[in-house]
Amino acid sequence: MYLTDEEHAWLAGDAGPATRRALEIVVTLARIYGAERLIPVESVQISGVSYRNLGDAGVEFLRHWVEEGARVRVPTTLNPAAMDMVDWNTQGIDADFAAHQQEVLALFSAMGVGGGAPVPTCTPYLIGSRPRMGAHVAWAESSAVVFANSVLGARTNREGGPGAIAAAIVGRTGAYGLHLDAQRRSTVLVKANDPPRTIADYSALGALVGRQTRNAVPYFVGLPLDPEEPLLEEKLKALGAAMAATGSVALYHVAGITPEARADPQLAATGETLAVGPLAEGYAALSDPADSDAADIDLVWIGCPHASLHEIAYVAAALDGRTLRIPLWVTSARPVKAVAEMQGLVAKIEAAGGRVFADACLAIGPVRELGYRLVATPSAKGAYYLRNLAQVSVQFAPLDACLEAALR
Ligand code: F3S
Repeated sequence: MYLTDEEHAWLAGDAGPATRRALEIVVTLARIYGAERLIPVESVQISGVSYRNLGDAGVEFLRHWVEEGARVRVPTTLNPAAMDMVDWNTQGIDADFAAHQQEVLALFSAMGVGGGAPVPTCTPYLIGSRPRMGAHVAWAESSAVVFANSVLGARTNREGGPGAIAAAIVGRTGAYGLHLDAQRRSTVLVKANDPPRTIADYSALGALVGRQTRNAVPYFVGLPLDPEEPLLEEKLKALGAAMAATGSVALYHVAGITPEARADPQLAATGETLAVGPLAEGYAALSDPADSDAADIDLVWIGCPHASLHEIAYVAAALDGRTLRIPLWVTSARPVKAVAEMQGLVAKIEAAGGRVFADACLAIGPVRELGYRLVATPSAKGAYYLRNLAQVSVQFAPLDACLEAALR
């Protein structure tokens, strides 16, 4: 594999032990995937932030980087934590767990992530980290990866946790996979039997397509989307996140909508065509039967991927002047929550008895330990990981149905 003089010098230790170790990781991964060279990346997004997932071994791994003097060389963002970093106490998180999670954030700060002040979120593109079309980046969170590739037209593979840290320290990744033109062509044409309307419908469609296409590059035709509609990005965010969860889709195209499909009509696949639906199958596949051991929904979770301002506004309007019967949590990026607070949206949700938490992802948080057994969500990805990681029963349903369940 070709390496520049600077990269050879870094491997010899000229830039310190952390840079040498990070470059060794990046080069090893690049060789495994058949890259002929490394490429500079404009930004990195790191996953593996939840203390529940990292455990003490993961924290020790991060400490070792800091002790070696690791510093990120490119703008780097961070995935959600297991809790709201400010309101963890009212979320019911215990102090010992919170202290460990706080140390994780402090270690990433010490590495210069987020300019030294990292904001945990799976939607960096909603808080200013929006790579331009064609930019090479190294992102790790699967829903952010598929959004960056598909909706923004940037180029990233699905980086693993340690690989993303290493890429951030050296500002490079291997030139393979979705960094290359040839890998970005679609491999299957997809038609929805049942046209999706709401954001949750796009999530249900994505759940079905991900299950059936695994790691394909789907090319959607016939979706009722308008490039100018206000909720376009929310629908595409939901579609991609679901495909990345039930399959491992990292790139998709939508005829006339996504940037590469608009730029090159020849991208459309000529091979297999898949007709997917009805959408009810997508909802049902990620809902536990009504006779599961937890009969009643005891928590509603909205904000997977982290909620946009539009999504928070919708919930606030639906709950305005009403009273929730069970807990309803919205998760979002802290800067988005701050704007929602300024616009009075958080106050409306809280007046109804709901909460808006920042920084957190419930799927990687201690939901079961907090006593919840059956969680309703309008997110296929949320349902998939609540079931598989948080080990609670789930109901995946349209947003209005989730809100009604919480109000009833
Ligand atoms: Fe984000 Fe967690 Fe969902 S990382 S995409 S809120 S599973």
